[in-house]
Amino acid sequence: MRILGVETSCDETALCIMDATGEEGDFRFQVLGNALFSQAKIHEQYGGVFPNIAKREHQKNLVPLLEHALREANELRTYPQYQGEALTLEMEKVLERETELLPLFKNFIETYEPPTVDAIAVTIGPGLEPALWVGINFAKALSIAWNIPLIPVNHMEGHIVMSMIELRSQSSGFTEFEYPLLSLLISGGHTELLLSRAWMQYEILGQTRDDAVGEAFDKIARLLDLPYPGGPHISRLASGARKIGHPMSDLKLPRPMMDTDNYDFSFSGLKTAVRRLVEEFKTRRVLNEELKAEVAREFEDACADVLVAKTLRAVVEFDVKTVLVGGGVSANTHIRNELSRKLSTINCQLLIPPPELATDNAIMIALAGYFRALKKEFAEPVIIRANGNLKLN
Ligand code: KG4
Ligand code: ZN
Repeated sequence: MRILGVETSCDETALCIMDATGEEGDFRFQVLGNALFSQAKIHEQYGGVFPNIAKREHQKNLVPLLEHALREANELRTYPQYQGEALTLEMEKVLERETELLPLFKNFIETYEPPTVDAIAVTIGPGLEPALWVGINFAKALSIAWNIPLIPVNHMEGHIVMSMIELRSQSSGFTEFEYPLLSLLISGGHTELLLSRAWMQYEILGQTRDDAVGEAFDKIARLLDLPYPGGPHISRLASGARKIGHPMSDLKLPRPMMDTDNYDFSFSGLKTAVRRLVEEFKTRRVLNEELKAEVAREFEDACADVLVAKTLRAVVEFDVKTVLVGGGVSANTHIRNELSRKLSTINCQLLIPPPELATDNAIMIALAGYFRALKKEFAEPVIIRANGNLKLN
């Protein structure tokens, strides 16, 4: 099956064309075309993602990225003579609120033949609703133009499936692993522990009560005058400080909820503690690069300690055989190393995506979409809606 994946839940506009075959046991796939534009530089000046700016950027970039992905997949064919498909009223209605996308879309379907694609997988949540809607409406209009079905995808399931695969240049497939599987999802919007006893079944064990861990990285970065998204910058500073050694013994941050008897998380107290500390350093005019790096290191240590402790507790309680980590924060070297070190001592397998595929992309959406398509979870365009708080079940 040929799938087009569409992802616009936050500040990455991403499209991918994938060929996938087989079921869970003999699954193979190949990425034929892949295109991604990160708006991070645009949001950087605001220190975070502005939903309406994200929406406008998705509108501008979807069509050029689709052309790019189709060209890479050898599927971008212009009509022989001018006989292009006209924009129908139905398509126009779907794109009514995407005023910047509409003319680009019109030009696209008038110029290019429908490609060999069987279905369109699109993220419907969780995420920023104005951003999600652009991808959804674009996918709806394409599904009408090409007369192919739509598959609604949960973004978090995309991160999960992404961590299960081994990407090779030719045909890729699943890594072997055993259930029960524990998924630790850590991103800009999520901090969750999910238990799966079987393929595509999820039980939420716990989640953050306030900020997501990625959000905390981004906010701390801002306090330290580092650009958005903050995760990679904090990580770079922290690993620098770790190399030099000599941790300042009086720089100690809390490990919120680390020892509570549940699987919930909380990162807002940690953020407040860092804010107080940084404000104090700023008042005393002592906040130099070295001290910033120490703050970053201690903050990263605190996050890793909490995430690892809760994960290990669940591994023991549910006799977990495999831990899967997904979401943008799983690109963090220190968190990866700590989890890997602790899990290897108890013989538990760790599935983690390569850092470059940990953050949002469309490969993960096409993958999750394929498995939902196998379950015949297609949906009529009219019933598909964005859901910013969509849960996995
Ligand atoms: O999964 P993702 O790309 O988008 C969401 O679905 O939220 O995750 C983005 C988050 C941001 O908060 C970013 O700061 C964080 O992932 N992130 C990192 C690293 N790389 C990205 N956090 C810590 N260390 C990193 N190396
Ligand atoms: Zn994500």
